[in-house]
Amino acid sequence: MAEIQVENPMPDSLAPLRLPDDRQLVLRVMPMPADANGNGDIFGGWIMAQVDIAGAVLPARIAKGRIVTVAVNEFIFKQPVSISDLLSFYAKVERIGKTSVTVNVEVYAERNPANLQVVKVTEANLTYVAIDKDGKPRLIPTT
Ligand SMILES: CC(C)(COP(=O)(O)OP(=O)(O)OC[C@H]1O[C@@H](n2cnc3c(N)ncnc32)[C@H](O)[C@@H]1OP(=O)(O)O)[C@@H](O)C(=O)NCCC(=O)NCCS
Repeated sequence: MAEIQVENPMPDSLAPLRLPDDRQLVLRVMPMPADANGNGDIFGGWIMAQVDIAGAVLPARIAKGRIVTVAVNEFIFKQPVSISDLLSFYAKVERIGKTSVTVNVEVYAERNPANLQVVKVTEANLTYVAIDKDGKPRLIPTT
């Protein structure tokens, strides 16, 4: 995975940062003005929806069929997101159960292209369940 050098002073959240290489890029999106809240930052609910979409990518592949989100176990907004940030969603499978798959999603914002910064803005942990045609849990295929 490409390394992006980040020049930035003090705050920990803006410290030089490498995009994760133990995770898969599952979604990249740029929020639009319609996604902003009254302060001009991006609405947290919009970010949650994108994380849910991104988090489902690996479980859907593993489950080889229909899945639903059963739980958002943890969701942390570490830094605000701005309108022109390019957001990249990186996912890692944490656990494959009998019928469920749990993933961790990290979201990074690339901002200020003239002096590029990469900031981790959000981290979440979600569980998806494989379901059958009746909406009941089904076993995760082993092959
Ligand atoms: C997901 C659903 C099918 C699970 O049905 P259920 O009868 O409760 O299923 P179970 O209790 O057998 O649990 C199924 C799996 O989910 C896991 N699970 C259930 N509740 C959980 C929770 N709160 N957190 C984490 N995992 C959970 C169980 O551990 C189990 O995993 P495993 O088989 O890998 O061990 C059902 O709850 C449902 O349809 N929920 C609505 C889903 C939905 O609409 N999502 C979108 C909302 S925006």
